[in-house]
Amino acid sequence: MKSVDILVAEHKIILGNLREIEKLIPRLTTENIQMLTPYLEFLQGYADEQHHAREEKILFPWMLQRQPDLQQGPVGLLLKEHVQARAFVASVTQVVETLVVDASGVKKVQETLNLFLSLYHAHIAKEEDILYKIAEQIDAKTHDGDKCMFLEFAKLEREMGVRNGL
Ligand SMILES: [Fe+2]
Ligand SMILES: [Fe+2]
Repeated sequence: MKSVDILVAEHKIILGNLREIEKLIPRLTTENIQMLTPYLEFLQGYADEQHHAREEKILFPWMLQRQPDLQQGPVGLLLKEHVQARAFVASVTQVVETLVVDASGVKKVQETLNLFLSLYHAHIAKEEDILYKIAEQIDAKTHDGDKCMFLEFAKLEREMGVRNGL
């Protein structure tokens, strides 16, 4: 299904950024912590406002309409992980935006980013190994996945573009 392929392609881009963040973590100091800013913007924009929105507003509802018991299973769990991921990113952003970051601030950021990375790697694995496979199975029966989701994906992208002033 093309809609799932798009989400997997977005995971690849997110994973590339996570690898760079992982390399940065041990090198962070009170002097250079602002190096994280573009990565935090990427996580808030591309990973959350675009990728998570595609899952939460389009893929998950399409799946739940056809298989409501997923709410108590993988969809419910993955939604909770989006909330956790958002909270980790917000907490790191709060420290990085502080005018003077001390050593304990750097340590907090390093710990939070490590938690974020392990949560997010496991999250992507669960989606690709379990949830997206269920989506493909549903589509094999209903044959309406791309018909329902493809245009919605494009619409969301346009809305994002408008918000970013593009
Ligand atoms: Fe997700
Ligand atoms: Fe995802």
